Amino acid sequence: LNFSIAQRSFAAHKGAVCAEAEIIVHRDTPDNNPDTPFEFTEENKKRIEAITSMYPEGHKQAATIPVLDLAQRQHGWLPISAMNKVAEVLEIPPMRVYEVATFYTMFLRKPVGKYFIQICTTTPCMLCNSDSIVEAIQNKLGIKVGETTPDKMFTVIEVECLGACVNAPMVQINDNYYEDLTPKDIEDIIDELKAGRVPPPGPRSGRFSCEPAGGLTSLTEPPKGPGFGVRSDL
Ligand code: FES
Repeated sequence: LNFSIAQRSFAAHKGAVCAEAEIIVHRDTPDNNPDTPFEFTEENKKRIEAITSMYPEGHKQAATIPVLDLAQRQHGWLPISAMNKVAEVLEIPPMRVYEVATFYTMFLRKPVGKYFIQICTTTPCMLCNSDSIVEAIQNKLGIKVGETTPDKMFTVIEVECLGACVNAPMVQINDNYYEDLTPKDIEDIIDELKAGRVPPPGPRSGRFSCEPAGGLTSLTEPPKGPGFGVRSDL
């Protein structure tokens, strides 16, 4: 498979830390080859119709990302046969799909655990001690970054900024963001997941969303309504 220049530099930067970036090229394996069984479910076929109908005739390629996402949600990850199926349903060359799947790190080209933990260690999170969260996860699960627990329940990787810097440090677990974390918070979250419960996502500090960590500094009282502050001489 083609591997984009951007992802090559990403891989070089992250070295062996990021599991996804370790896969530089596709090599057929017993569980990942063009004959690996993959077919969209009837439900997902309807979803694909709904997605592609949003784009003008002749521009089905624009649906590559949402349809790849559907394939991944259905299968858990993206074997090459799933990518080929996406190319088939969108009527585009497989290479167009490979280019997308190898560029975006959200697409997983090898299996991951039931709970996929992505810990952000980019500068704002690092300054808020994301290292302590990495350490807590590794100690709690007994695995290193880039590894999966033997029971296939957890995979942990280190990622670049996930866009929640104001709530640093944070992790993404499957589709949920857990923010304002302390080592104890992430341990509690893992305990909940192990017990079969999904803890509510969001900040663990008690603040609402990304309000100022030290409390509101504006909009602390109801707005005064239209006309407030209008100059009387105008
Ligand atoms: S730096 Fe961690 S979310 Fe942006």
